[in-house]
Amino acid sequence: MAGLLTLEGTIMFIPKAIALASLSAAFLVSGCRSDPVSFRQDVHPVLEHNCAVCHSPGGIGYEISGFSVQSYATLMKGSKFGPLVIPGSSRQSNLIWLLRHGAHPSMNMPKMCKHLVTADRKCAVASEHARRLPGSQVNMIAKWIDQGARDN
Ligand code: HEC
Repeated sequence: MAGLLTLEGTIMFIPKAIALASLSAAFLVSGCRSDPVSFRQDVHPVLEHNCAVCHSPGGIGYEISGFSVQSYATLMKGSKFGPLVIPGSSRQSNLIWLLRHGAHPSMNMPKMCKHLVTADRKCAVASEHARRLPGSQVNMIAKWIDQGARDN
């Protein structure tokens, strides 16, 4: 009797486990594929909020580096030293290295301008509200780049 119960229990249990496992696998796969990051809705608002104060015409970051986050076109153009976004490869995109604080500390973005003190304190004032981007936002931008960095 006891053996039968165990057998029944096992038979009931296996299909359930398989069903659950395949369900979550399907969810994971579709979660990765059918989830395009939008430049207009996801990426641009984050850059505007955190970077535009310095990286648009008139801002200190734009004046020094020529990098503006105003539009898709200016973002893709990069700085006077070249492109910062390599479509399809977040690992090769300097933008992501700077946001992850993976380069020299003086290059971390957003910039905390304590070491760039000018007479008008332009950078210091602009960086008063600057904060490091949370990992989730950097990952989101990296995903957008890996998906081809489209103007979507
Ligand atoms: C408070 C001002 C300030 C803020 C805010 C700021 N930056 Fe900068 N950024 C600068 C300055 C100034 C430079 C010029 C280079 C230097 O002094 O390191 C610079 C340089 C850069 C560069 C290097 C360009 C190059 O090739 O030399 C990148 C990329 C960059 N910023 C991205 C960003 C991003 C993305 C954000 C927002 C998350 C951001 N910055 C926020 C001031 C700022």
